[in-house]
Amino acid sequence: MLRVEREIPLRITSGNNPFLTGLFAPVSREITADELSVIGEIPEDLEGVYLRNGPNPIFAPRGRYHWFDGDGMVHAIAFRDGKATYRNRWVRTNGFMAEQEAGQAIWPGLMDRPDPSVPKGSGSDGWLKDTANTDLIFHNGYALALWYQCGLPYRLEARTLETLGVENFRGALKRTVSAHAKVDEHTGELLFFDYATNPPFMTYNVVSANGELIHQSPIDLPGPRLPHDMAITEHYSILMDLPLFWDPQLLPKNIHKVTYYPNLPSRFAVLPRYGSNDKVKWFEATPCFIYHVVNSWEDGDEIIMDACRVVEPRPQNASGEGELARMQAFLRLEAQLWRWRFNLQTGVVKEEQFDEAKTEWPTMNKLRLGRKTRYSYNAYVPKFNGLVKYDFEKGTVAEYLFGPGRIGSEAPFAPRLNAKGEDDGYVVSFVANVNNNSSEVVILDAKNFSAGPVARVQLPQRVPVGFHALWVPGTKLWAQ
Ligand SMILES: [Fe+2]
Repeated sequence: MLRVEREIPLRITSGNNPFLTGLFAPVSREITADELSVIGEIPEDLEGVYLRNGPNPIFAPRGRYHWFDGDGMVHAIAFRDGKATYRNRWVRTNGFMAEQEAGQAIWPGLMDRPDPSVPKGSGSDGWLKDTANTDLIFHNGYALALWYQCGLPYRLEARTLETLGVENFRGALKRTVSAHAKVDEHTGELLFFDYATNPPFMTYNVVSANGELIHQSPIDLPGPRLPHDMAITEHYSILMDLPLFWDPQLLPKNIHKVTYYPNLPSRFAVLPRYGSNDKVKWFEATPCFIYHVVNSWEDGDEIIMDACRVVEPRPQNASGEGELARMQAFLRLEAQLWRWRFNLQTGVVKEEQFDEAKTEWPTMNKLRLGRKTRYSYNAYVPKFNGLVKYDFEKGTVAEYLFGPGRIGSEAPFAPRLNAKGEDDGYVVSFVANVNNNSSEVVILDAKNFSAGPVARVQLPQRVPVGFHALWVPGTKLWAQ
């Protein structure tokens, strides 16, 4: 059964923008659908909700549309008792509501210049619309939709996708939250940083399991930076000062030119979980940029961090000239899996490449975040045409390709009910098909990764290509 909950006519036209056409094109309907047709069988021990965030713009941009500008929309599929229900909803951010009221776009986009005549926006330089379109985490009973450039966390009911408002941690949140906040499943704590163009250029924060902001510290940086992710271990947090940031000469002129500085080192701040700036131990490594961390843990005197290291942080124009080509080049996200070892006793850093293949969008068994893990599930980039399962212990790689014309989404690991080991469960992904403009959900058995899906759930509408995804186990959502 399919129910159209709401339709919002789209006032944006694609023009020549590849991020508004084909599998990237936004959808206009919010729907709820069950009794979906399935190829194969949905496992009875797969219980929970797979949510994925991404941009879904409504209004014609004031200037040029950048893929990162679109209003956040979450697509989700809930699995229980071998059945599935799909729904999609825009995140009702303050910016979304204001533009609905105005009937047009208010804020400029990432490829435009800041406009001082519009209401103050959000982000590390405060001039963009906070779309909450980037990441999703689950903390204290709710999903939180987060934004890549530091925004307000929007609380969502994970089963219905209803936006419940801004999560401000009982009024204690005075700044913002970066996209990649971390939840330690052992303690229930939420750890995050934010970054800004004015001092303090970064803060580090810890929120308790029940939503109280229990620790905050400014972190000294030499200037405004653009870190994307962080890592946690049982006792430490790792923050990043990487040599890719807005040109500091141009920033005062309101020009935001992302620039790579290959003569600067990569710097990693390791600090105790409840530590402040004076407790930070800085490690210097070879220059690089990292979008996403797989996992990190403690091993004797060392902190181990696995992450996807960008192959060429200075992208050449993919094809043609101009800002559109520059955007495409940056968005290729080509990276390889590396391991960093930070020795807390000697201060020495070791860096080791794990694989030649270009993969990104890493996921792992989140129940073990910050503890030693053996497996990572990554997507091939830039095409997102398949997934790989890395086994760090055996040094092996298993692969599943989606097939011609099919593009996946970030694919979180979903532990099966009463799981017995780290990879005892499933890997779940939306897959969009360019051949018939449709979407489905594929469910892979993580232990038998290359065998292909155990089930393919057909969706009644296309899920546009998007950003990060989340698995919320049913044990957190339904009384057992
Ligand atoms: Fe990200």
